[in-house]
Amino acid sequence: MRTFRAPGRVNLIGEHTDYNDGFVLPAALDFSTWVRISPLDERKLKIFSENFEEEIEVDLDDQNLSARGHWSDYPMGVAVVLERAGYHLRGARLQIRGEVPIGSGLSSSAAVEVATACALVENSGLKIDPRELALLCQRAETEFVGARVGIMDQFISLFGQAQRALLLDCRSLEFRLLPLPDNVRLIICNTMVKHALASSAYNERRAQCEAGVKHLAKFVPDVTALRDVTIEQLEEHRNGLDDVVYRRCRHVITENARVLWAGDALESGDLVRFGELMGASHRSLRDDYEVSCEELDLMVEIAQNVDGVYGARMTGGGFGGCTVNLVADTQVEEFRVRVAMKYEEATTLAPEIYICVAANGAEEVRQD
Ligand code: GLA
Repeated sequence: MRTFRAPGRVNLIGEHTDYNDGFVLPAALDFSTWVRISPLDERKLKIFSENFEEEIEVDLDDQNLSARGHWSDYPMGVAVVLERAGYHLRGARLQIRGEVPIGSGLSSSAAVEVATACALVENSGLKIDPRELALLCQRAETEFVGARVGIMDQFISLFGQAQRALLLDCRSLEFRLLPLPDNVRLIICNTMVKHALASSAYNERRAQCEAGVKHLAKFVPDVTALRDVTIEQLEEHRNGLDDVVYRRCRHVITENARVLWAGDALESGDLVRFGELMGASHRSLRDDYEVSCEELDLMVEIAQNVDGVYGARMTGGGFGGCTVNLVADTQVEEFRVRVAMKYEEATTLAPEIYICVAANGAEEVRQD
């Protein structure tokens, strides 16, 4: 029996930029999914979820496997994509336990995918470059599960490092690890709401970005993604662009710039500047990209009025889920109490508040 662990993530800045070939700045969290695996002689996977207390069986030679809106779509999708890519898997019994809050925008799905992929690869005696593995896990979600996600979540779940945030170029997959100072904490506030339209709205945003690229490519040479467009070019060729599409493009283009500035700010220890950029990111997601919601806006507003808060913003896909806050370590208790009280007063919902540290990416857990 071997055990593999893969973490969830929080994105500090760079939202809805990954599928536009842009930049993101996430950190891996100390919340993980664990997969225990042992080989089977038959070409089958027997997958048990501790969270859902259910076992499913997958015939690895079945060519017609498809998603059915079930927790098992994620591990099954990983197996299917690995097989389709020509990696011959050995049968196995898997036991999955996830501690990443599900449906909160902290990438519980990427954690399941990556932990399953690492377990299946090792169990089959295969070697796969971790960048390729990240892309295959992403493909499990885009091609099998049917959510057109970008590369951020799977990448950080594999490449994260303790006490570091990771600035990723989602086009080249090159990255820089940036230190998170000792005297600040990442605090994640869960609004405890998830609005139903999240996944259809996500795919709709992607389509709007593609529409923007199609228009801009007529005027600006070599544009294949919004990554290739400057804000000046967007303004210059705004005519003929639907107003909603224009605002979607403006978010992505300005957000990419903010990520690069934020990376520099972190590198030079300028937390005030970093926090301002987080605030600007939130406003852009709220007003231009329209993926925030009342509860997220409220949570951010409450946090911004607490002493010792450098920055606050929604994190992840949006429409509910969590905010991320950069808070001076001396103010953590005050933050926790004030934010919980004010949020509950206004919404009657008791938020979950997680005081996090940036953790390492996926690994085998040795049991001595
Ligand atoms: C989800 C997706 C990511 C990314 C974010 C928004 O978490 O899985 O790929 O697009 O939304 O930044």
